[in-house]
Amino acid sequence: MRILSGIQPSGTIHIGNYFGMIKKMIESQNDGELFAFIASYHALTSVSNKEVLQKNIFEAAVNFLSLGMDPEKSTFWVQSDVPEVLELYWILSNHTPMGLLERAHSYKDKTARGIASNHGLLSYPVLMAADILLFDSNIVPVGKDQIQHVEITRDIANTFNNAYGEILVMPEAKVDEIVATVPGTDGAKMSKSYGNTIDMFGSGKTTKKQVMKIVTDSKELHEVKEYATCNVYKLCELFMNEEELEHMQKRYTTPGEGYGHFKLALLDKINEHFAPYIDKREHLLNNPKEVKEILAHGASKARIVAQEKLRVIRDAVGLNY
Ligand code: ADP
Ligand code: TRP
Repeated sequence: MRILSGIQPSGTIHIGNYFGMIKKMIESQNDGELFAFIASYHALTSVSNKEVLQKNIFEAAVNFLSLGMDPEKSTFWVQSDVPEVLELYWILSNHTPMGLLERAHSYKDKTARGIASNHGLLSYPVLMAADILLFDSNIVPVGKDQIQHVEITRDIANTFNNAYGEILVMPEAKVDEIVATVPGTDGAKMSKSYGNTIDMFGSGKTTKKQVMKIVTDSKELHEVKEYATCNVYKLCELFMNEEELEHMQKRYTTPGEGYGHFKLALLDKINEHFAPYIDKREHLLNNPKEVKEILAHGASKARIVAQEKLRVIRDAVGLNY
């Protein structure tokens, strides 16, 4: 079973991204053959600054590698290092009705928010279809917002197969319904657009500042506190085992301590949890050559699969004469 995942290269990542997406993706390396890439071509639809794009691609690679992406076990590459995908994108464009793209929620939402409509934005789902179909992907784990893009992929694959025979593999979207939403420091969904994040790789000082900012009620040291509704406790649940949580519950229900103490306990656990990744990340950040070699190795593995599939497709449509 082949699992394919595309990751937008956004700058800083937070613990909501980690528990909501990254951790699962890393774990999926045990469920099947994982093909994962950094969607650098797709990023061009929203980033038009050279340095920002370069930095985001590099940092996304470093983040995923330090968090456990295994470049031997899986195939991990940067999308634009396997340009074969663009040839398939063009071929598939000819089997994509305009209406299909004009109805895409993501396109409609973006243009409704005032983002200028252009061809890249409109044809974004065709490139995503090419990503998925080039690698004979069976399973595509996605968030709810991306389900429609996988449906569009299936429609395009169907039209293509009807014209040329059963050449493209029909993918399935896998949606994790029970993705718990990680709360931010204000209790709302943690999101970089809300300024309520606890960053994954912030400096010690930043993380402390963010943890200390977590909103609580104003109960005093001598009062009994409620843990179940407390934002600090909810975050503790992500980092502590049963025994540690029971201990925290006692601390909440026994007068004498305040939220500051609980936040420091949480901060210790966060630091402990991410310490091994931080060392690995520092190493990779300081050794860009090593990162680039890993990515080149990933691209060459992906390219073998891509070129073989493209050969079959070119043959089917009549480009090999
Ligand atoms: P943000 O909301 O910070 O902009 P993104 O939209 O870039 O985050 O999300 C990237 C990935 O991280 C998505 O797969 C999304 O489902 C996941 N994610 C983001 N925030 C959370 C959260 N608070 N809880 C769980 N998962 C999240
Ligand atoms: N559009 C996806 C997102 O925004 C990223 C992506 C690009 C992708 N190509 C893909 C995801 C192929 C899955 C499969 O998250």
